[in-house]
Amino acid sequence: MKDFEARLKDIEEKGLTRTLITLPGSGGRFVLDGKEYLNFSSNDYLDLANDSRVKKAAIAAVEKFGSGSGGSRLMCGTLTLHEELEKKLADWAGFEEAIVFGSGFLANTGVISALAGAGDTVYFDKFDHASIIDGVMLSGAAWKRYRHNDLGELERMLEKSAGNSFIIADSVFSMDGDLADVIKLKGLSDKYGAFLIIDEAHAIGVFGEGIGLCAQKNIKPDLITGTFSKAFGGYGGFAVCSSAVKKLLINSARSFIFSTALPPACLGGAIKALEIIREEKELGSSLLDNSSYFHGLLRGAGLKLPEFSSQIIPVMIGDNRHSVKAAELLWEEGIYAKAIRPPTVPKGTARLRLSVTLSHTKQALKTAAEKIARAAQKAGLI
Ligand SMILES: Cc1ncc(COP(=O)(O)O)c(C=O)c1O
Repeated sequence: MKDFEARLKDIEEKGLTRTLITLPGSGGRFVLDGKEYLNFSSNDYLDLANDSRVKKAAIAAVEKFGSGSGGSRLMCGTLTLHEELEKKLADWAGFEEAIVFGSGFLANTGVISALAGAGDTVYFDKFDHASIIDGVMLSGAAWKRYRHNDLGELERMLEKSAGNSFIIADSVFSMDGDLADVIKLKGLSDKYGAFLIIDEAHAIGVFGEGIGLCAQKNIKPDLITGTFSKAFGGYGGFAVCSSAVKKLLINSARSFIFSTALPPACLGGAIKALEIIREEKELGSSLLDNSSYFHGLLRGAGLKLPEFSSQIIPVMIGDNRHSVKAAELLWEEGIYAKAIRPPTVPKGTARLRLSVTLSHTKQALKTAAEKIARAAQKAGLI
């Protein structure tokens, strides 16, 4: 029997203990014990989680279809709402088909482990999301990770590749907020005949009039995975792909086959969020404008930031305990930003991950930047 206490002590000694914090609501702002906080940890980028139209659609779906879906998609769980959402997603993204999963995590693990297998090789970015790593491990395929965004290294790996190969990358990296060069990735996948999967979890709703970074750059990978849990303001995941790939996923993606179908509230909410994102094409660019403004203020205050890329802005700190201390000081200022430490990010790169949402006005961002600078000064970071 493993010594769980010893493992916990080890985690604590390294300054890596993770704890839960209970908030009174979702979104970019909340009030706790009478004090107002700005939430910079939320992925509700377009502020749709509390949008009255999305909430109404979710409630209407529950009223009509019930609270749960009753079974897995292949048993009795496929409702007309799944079909409607999949049709609308495919049409919006410009793919033959879409397939909805229980979450973005389940979409990645399901898709990758279903499509890749023994005898294949998967090439993926060192900073790809955990669900991609787990999908690759489940697949039984051989794998190689290239240095973050080092497509020269990826090409050298592909030159030696034999058998079927897959390339998988996030388009917007979740903890760094930087972008993959999706045009070059597409070029490499074409040159070496690799199946290209791009995870657009953080790009959907934001780039390319909401469709994602691939749409913005005018390239079409073989398959895109996404989530309803971020810019859509809800929960659930999906993939867009060809008809043949969808059929194969229905027949072999274990997280699709052996898990209960996404429930009506999530579907109704996602359908409405999609409609809003499709109609209000400027939402993503407004968010990026605000994010760039915020990035400029933080940099101007002397904080250590990489170049501006997206709504995700990492404030690099390095030391695990210093990053936790900085988060505590921010909390006192009414700013909620989580310290991100290894193993989520590489050793020595602990940081505060700030994500801007449309609930943060420019005025709120200005005040927040001043507070963050004050806390950073107190923490000895600037
Ligand atoms: C890049 C990326 N892919 C997939 C996921 C998983 O999506 P979900 O939260 O819907 O499971 C996340 C985040 O959670 C992510 O950051």
